[in-house]
Formats: sequence, structure tokens, C-alpha cells
Amino acid sequence: MAIFVHYLSILLISAVIFLLLRAYRLRRLRLPPGNLGLPFVGETLQLISAYKTENPEPFIDERAKRHGSVFTTHVFGEPTVFSADPETNRFILQNEGKLFECSYPGSISNLLGKHSLLLMKGNLHKRMHSLTMSFANSSIIKDQLLVDIDRLIRLNLDSWTDRILLMEATKKITFELAVKQLMSFDPGEWSESLRKQYVLVIEGFFTVPLPLFSATYRRAIKARREVAEALSKMVKERREEYEKGERKNDMLGALLGGEWEDDQLSNEQIVDFMVALLVAGYETTSTIMTLAVKFLTQTPLALAQLKEEHDGIRLKKSGSEGLQWSDYKSMPFTQCVINETLRVANIISGVFRRTVTDVNIKGYTIPKGWKVFASFRAVHLDHDHFKDARTFNPWRWKNNNLGTSCSGNFYTPFGGGPRLCPGYELARVEISVFLHHLVTQFSWVPAEEDKLVFFPTTRTQKRFPINLQRRR
Ligand code: HEM
Ligand SMILES: *[C@@H]1O[C@H](CO)[C@@H](O)[C@H](O)[C@H]1NC(C)=O
Ligand SMILES: *[C@@H]1O[C@H](CO)[C@@H](O)[C@H](O)[C@H]1NC(C)=O
Repeated sequence: MAIFVHYLSILLISAVIFLLLRAYRLRRLRLPPGNLGLPFVGETLQLISAYKTENPEPFIDERAKRHGSVFTTHVFGEPTVFSADPETNRFILQNEGKLFECSYPGSISNLLGKHSLLLMKGNLHKRMHSLTMSFANSSIIKDQLLVDIDRLIRLNLDSWTDRILLMEATKKITFELAVKQLMSFDPGEWSESLRKQYVLVIEGFFTVPLPLFSATYRRAIKARREVAEALSKMVKERREEYEKGERKNDMLGALLGGEWEDDQLSNEQIVDFMVALLVAGYETTSTIMTLAVKFLTQTPLALAQLKEEHDGIRLKKSGSEGLQWSDYKSMPFTQCVINETLRVANIISGVFRRTVTDVNIKGYTIPKGWKVFASFRAVHLDHDHFKDARTFNPWRWKNNNLGTSCSGNFYTPFGGGPRLCPGYELARVEISVFLHHLVTQFSWVPAEEDKLVFFPTTRTQKRFPINLQRRR
């Protein structure tokens, strides 16, 4: 008992010293103002409970009002500088690799694999990022990818019944598209069993990062191993074909191919790279497809205008003629709908970075090694930057009439700087083609009330069940 009391007092005294030192250090540091909350947990619980509701904005609004748009908090185990300021966000994105580095918890790195683009740094990152960009640039989409995007989306919609879970149906679509684009496989048993494992991996990203306590996380790690095995077998076969002179025009072909003559990528590197591409493109694009439909359903005027645009395109075509690049380029209202969905949904609500040196921003100093969070969501939903920012209004994008002076720096659904999303154009095309076939072939009503939630990811609670009717 005496020993216990002794330990307890040591613990208490150290906690007090810790808090005093922290307060002292912070005061000396010229950090952005803020509140670190309780020791260890900080303000994590407030953040989580806000993001589990339909309206998470107060978490940032209140702090920004009290401390300014750049403030200090303490979330997910660490003090963190939060930015709701477009200029600061831009500064953070542009200085990636110089003043800041991306930063993921170990549990996520394990699932991604150490050679994934999201974790790469330095020159290798630069090279692989530009390779990924050139794989998904507009001329490649136009000349090679669009045909299959059109065909596979149509194939999926043909199999729809009169009631579906839209979130599930769109995930199947984006996964099949990714597998086709990466390694030229058409959907079938192989891709479907890969997808089942894949879903388990994705679930692992959103569990508490305490692997020992989480069955979901352990299952995700196991599934990740199986995905890697399947891919690795396929990469091996393709490398053998490649060495015999057989070339395929897909992402894997580019990874195996020419410009890597001197220092070829290992199979493990290629597999990690592909896993990360699947992760980055699958859940994001399908969520935007689903949320676009949700917002349109709630905004009948916008849906009517969208239908008119796409019926017009169909009218000029015979029966089942596929969409061309020129069709994609003549969907101005669709682009407004997609921009507005990205702006309001904020499926990537911002990005975490870590300072690699002491960084001065707006007269404050963020010490080396600190976490920062550039919140895109806070900027996209700020009334100072977008008029009536919290309402879905696709018309605001017409003639770029945003109700504000300029949008360039304010609108970053795909990030920016050296880590700009390499899939930004591909995602737009996939969503456009999806909306085209959806509105020309079906009308629908929501089958149940379904709410948005924002933690751990942005999605609807019930995966958006809808009742469908064929238009023709
Ligand atoms: C609507 C759909 C999408 C959204 C909203 C989105 C958003 C983003 C954002 C914000 C980033 C920056 C992350 C950071 O700076 O740390 C990013 C990175 C990335 N995205 Fe996307 N993305 C989408 C679709 C796609 C697709 C279809 C692909 C597949 C080609 C893709 C591949 C990637 C990759 C590989 C990265 C990492 C880039 C790097 O770290 O260098 N994304 N995405
Ligand atoms: C797209 O990438 C290809 C290489 O994959 C390149 O030849 C072409 O010039 C690029 N096009 C554009 C518009 O950047
Ligand atoms: C949509 O946003 C992009 C920036 O991501 C912009 O370049 C484009 O002009 C916008 N489209 C419309 C129709 O305003």
C-alpha cells in the first residue's frame, strides 16, 4: 500500500511538471493560439463527437472564432496546428518536401505498404508521382481509358435490379475500373475475389490504430497479405511476358517498362504501388458518385437540368453508341455538379503534414517535428470564400460566378503542390460517365432516410439505398 501511494504521488508530480513545462514551452514558442485540452487525449473526443453528427462545422467554427483561422489543438495523441486559412493551406501544400512532409500513423503505413506513392519521399516520389500523372492524363484517358470506362459502367448499370445500395454498386464500378486500368483485367471471378479481400483492407484504415486490440485491423493485415500475394503472382507473370517482348498498354506496363531500364522496380515495389492506387481511387470516387446522386435527389431543379444535358447528348447518338471525348467535353452543367459535390462533401477533409524544420507562418512559429492539418473542409464551407457556403448550389460554378473574387487558392478538393492527386481528371471523367448513364437510363427515389456522417470517413449511414425505375 505504501509503495502504491508512493508511485501514485510520483505519477501525479510528474504529470504536474509535464503540464507546467508544456505550458511554459508553448508560451515561449510563439505558437498559434489555442487550447491543448486534457493531457494525452487533448481535444480528440470533441473532434470525434462533432464529426459523428450531420453538422461537424462547430468544432472548427468555434475555435477559429476564438483563436483565429490558424490555431493549435491536440488531437489523435499529438499537439497539432490546424489551418482553416486558404493562404496557409496553400503554403503547406506547396512546401511539401521542403518545410513539410506527409505523415501517416504506423498502422496505416503497414496497410499501404512501404513503397506506396503516398508514403514515398524525395526524388523517388517525384519520379513516381509524375509517372502516375502521365498515366492518367487527359490524352491517355481520351485515347485509351474512356472506352472501357463507358463500357464497364454500362455493363454494371445493365445488371441493376429495382432496388440497390448505391454506395455498394458504385464501389463495384470504381474497383472494376481500377483493375482494368492498372492491369487490363476485365471483371470476373478474379477481380471479385480480390475485391472481397480489398474491402477488408479498407476497413482496417478506419479502426482505432491499436492493432493488438482490434480484430478488424488484424483481419485487414491478413487480407492485405492475400491481396499482395494475388497481385504479386500476376506481376510475376506479366514480367515474364514483358521479357519475351509482349507489351500491354496499362499502368503495370508502364511500371515494368522502358524508363526503368537501369534500376528496375522490384515486384514488391510494384505491388505496394498498385495497392495504394487502388486505395486512393476506389473509395473516394465511388463516394463522390453516391453523394452527387444524394445531393441531386435533394435538389430537383439541378437534377432536371442535368437530365436535360444528358438526354441532349443521347439524342445525337444511335442506341448504344459509346460516349466520346467530345461528349465529355460538352457537359458543362455536369462539371458544375461535380465541383459542387466535391466542395460540399469534402471526402478528403484535409491533409496531415509534419514540419521538418521550425516553420514561420503568419508571425507564429511551428516547431520542427510538429503536426499540422490543412483543412480543406473549413475553407470550402467558409462564407467568406463561397457565398452561402453550406448550401449545395451547382449554379455557382456557372461562368465561375462563385460570389467571391477568386477561387483558385480556395478550392482544393484534390490537394495541390507536389502531392496533387494524380487521379483528378480520371475521377471527373468516371463520375461524368456514371452520371450520364444513370440519368439517361433511370429515375429513382431514396428507399429510406439516410444521413451523412463524417467520421471516420464521409459517407451515408445506410449506404444510400434507392428504388430504381428504367426510363426506357
Ligand atoms: C473524387 C475522387 C478523388 C479525390 C477527392 C481525391 C483526393 C485526393 C487528395 C486530396 C490527395 C492529396 C493527399 C495529400 O496531399 O496528402 C490525393 C492523392 C492521391 N490520389 Fe486522389 N482523389 C480522388 C481520386 C483518385 C483516383 C481515381 C486515383 C487513381 C489514379 C487517385 C490517386 C491518388 C494518389 C496515388 C494520391 C497520392 C499522391 C501522392 O502522395 O503523391 N485519386 N487524392
Ligand atoms: C500524357 O502522358 C503521355 C505519356 O504517358 C505523354 O506522352 C503526353 O504528352 C501527356 N499528355 C499531356 C496532355 O500531358
Ligand atoms: C471545377 O473546378 C476546377 C478546379 O478544380 C476548375 O478548374 C474548373 O474550372 C471548375 N469547373 C467549373 C465548371 O467551374
